Amino acid sequence: MNKKNIFKLILDIVMLVLFVTFFDKNLISFKFHIISGLVFGVLILIHMLLNKKWIVNISKRLFDKNLKTRTKVSYIISAILFAMVLLIIVSGIFMMKATDYDKIAIWRMLHIGASYLSIVLIGVHVGLYWRFISSVVKKVFA
Ligand code: HEM
Repeated sequence: MNKKNIFKLILDIVMLVLFVTFFDKNLISFKFHIISGLVFGVLILIHMLLNKKWIVNISKRLFDKNLKTRTKVSYIISAILFAMVLLIIVSGIFMMKATDYDKIAIWRMLHIGASYLSIVLIGVHVGLYWRFISSVVKKVFA
């Protein structure tokens, strides 16, 4: 079994579990929410580095007629998801720094709105990669 694929799968599971914990800011502690939220930003970059070949390859072929629609949709969903995570982290930081009530309310709305949108996108993202995930899981437990 390819060690890189096992590492990828473990990283994805850690990211998924962490993401779910973010929906109750006091589940472990608020400090944990903030620190692990920032760590999540680093994990997503590692996730992208591990999948760099796919990202570079599809970026070059995005407008190629022979590229499957499923792959194009998957690429677009992944790109939106990445933008949403950036928005969540940036809005989290700005929310903490803001002093005026209106600004806090706007950053909070963006932070929570992008989080709920991301949960939906993560569902689609995982669904589209289900074949890869289930093949790695089957090999690990074979
Ligand atoms: C991907 C990472 C993150 C996700 C998905 C996320 C998601 C959420 C969600 C859904 C809430 C509302 C939960 C609740 O009310 O119990 C929340 C609250 C909050 N988050 Fe995050 N968060 C992330 C990272 C961060 C980071 C990095 C910071 C700060 C640097 C931050 C700062 C806050 C603050 C200040 C609140 C409290 C908002 C309030 O209730 O007034 N979050 N977050």
